[in-house]
Amino acid sequence: MAYFFLCFFLFFICDKALPGHTWKMNNLLMTGPKAYLTYASSVQVGAQSGIRECKHQFAWDRWNCPDSALQLSTYKGFRSSTRETSFVHAISAAGVMHTLTRNCSLGDLDDCGCDSSRNGKLGGRGWLWGGCSDNVDFGERISKEYLDALETGQDSRAAVNLHNNEAGRLAVKATMKRICRCHGMSESCTMQTCWMQLSDFREIGNYLKVKHGQAQKLEMDKRRMRAANSADNRVAMADTFGSIPRSELIYLEDSPDYCAKNLSIGLLGTEGRECVQHGESLTQWERRSCRRLCHECGLRVEEMRTEIVSSCNCKFHWCCTVKCENCSQVTVKHVCARRHGHHGHQRRRPRGPK
Ligand SMILES: *[C@@H]1O[C@H](CO)[C@@H](O)[C@H](O)[C@H]1NC(C)=O
Ligand SMILES: *[C@@H]1O[C@H](CO)[C@@H](O)[C@H](O)[C@H]1NC(C)=O
Ligand SMILES: *[C@@H]1O[C@H](CO)[C@@H](O)[C@H](O)[C@H]1NC(C)=O
Repeated sequence: MAYFFLCFFLFFICDKALPGHTWKMNNLLMTGPKAYLTYASSVQVGAQSGIRECKHQFAWDRWNCPDSALQLSTYKGFRSSTRETSFVHAISAAGVMHTLTRNCSLGDLDDCGCDSSRNGKLGGRGWLWGGCSDNVDFGERISKEYLDALETGQDSRAAVNLHNNEAGRLAVKATMKRICRCHGMSESCTMQTCWMQLSDFREIGNYLKVKHGQAQKLEMDKRRMRAANSADNRVAMADTFGSIPRSELIYLEDSPDYCAKNLSIGLLGTEGRECVQHGESLTQWERRSCRRLCHECGLRVEEMRTEIVSSCNCKFHWCCTVKCENCSQVTVKHVCARRHGHHGHQRRRPRGPK
């Protein structure tokens, strides 16, 4: 069942990955619970916005949120639980919650609206609750119903995924802002009404990227962990989880070497990846991308020039022609390439899975 829910969000992947499931998918859509269908398309939009944000956040990292990383559930029996998978879970859960909450405030959905439960009450010194507070409880509930349902297992991986989904949803809440409007005579602003508003999804992505950097590895008792499905296992998980705040991302396995290509686990490696070196508005993280993606992975940086010719400096001649010149513009791209005479990766300074 989990496949079908998942494929519904990420059908573009499943189409390729799981041929033969399409028929069952359609079957589910026709017979599935009505409530499920009500939100399904918005949930899908939300999950996709999570994935888009993942690709943006990791554009200059060795791991760049490749499509192969996007199966949120079992796929070919392979299911990792790395720092990066924790991010995928969190950003997807956050994306669904964010989209559904927005839908709600915009009046897209019949059965929810703004959260006006506190309107009219005093919020603090000089301000009252008013206006349209985003109804995050609704978005949170739908995100739980749809994404947490993918985790049907009782094992530690499922528990970790659920924890990270929750951390993603907490990020949506943690980044909410209070927006206020002044009332009263001219600019005196003696009385304000305020409401709680979602941050832009970009801000939630930035927040979760920081959490990704701080993610904690769960060191679980191996013997007890193997006892899948048993009460013993649940006790072991409860012991381990109890000490970690719900807002933090967690993982079970160290990340593989993202420099290297390993198709059996869906890794493309960094050969052929673009990196950036110069540019005024680059962050330090971006400016170091060639070092991180190429040099530290045993690759060199290759400059690629492409010339684009387009018409320019057009002049109008009496009467009635237009004469243009050809201008060529050279764009320079930097790409990681194999060193001459080297096969494979011979790392100079191996470092973490950045
Ligand atoms: C919810 O919002 C998303 C993104 O803005 C939009 O694509 C989707 O159509 C909305 N859902 C409904 C039911 O209007
Ligand atoms: C690919 O990854 C698998 C699983 O981690 C590992 O066993 C295998 O040795 C790797 N293959 C290569 C070529 O590195
Ligand atoms: C501009 O380029 C086109 C196609 O390459 C060519 O036909 C044309 O003569 C060029 N024009 C001038 C002004 O050089």
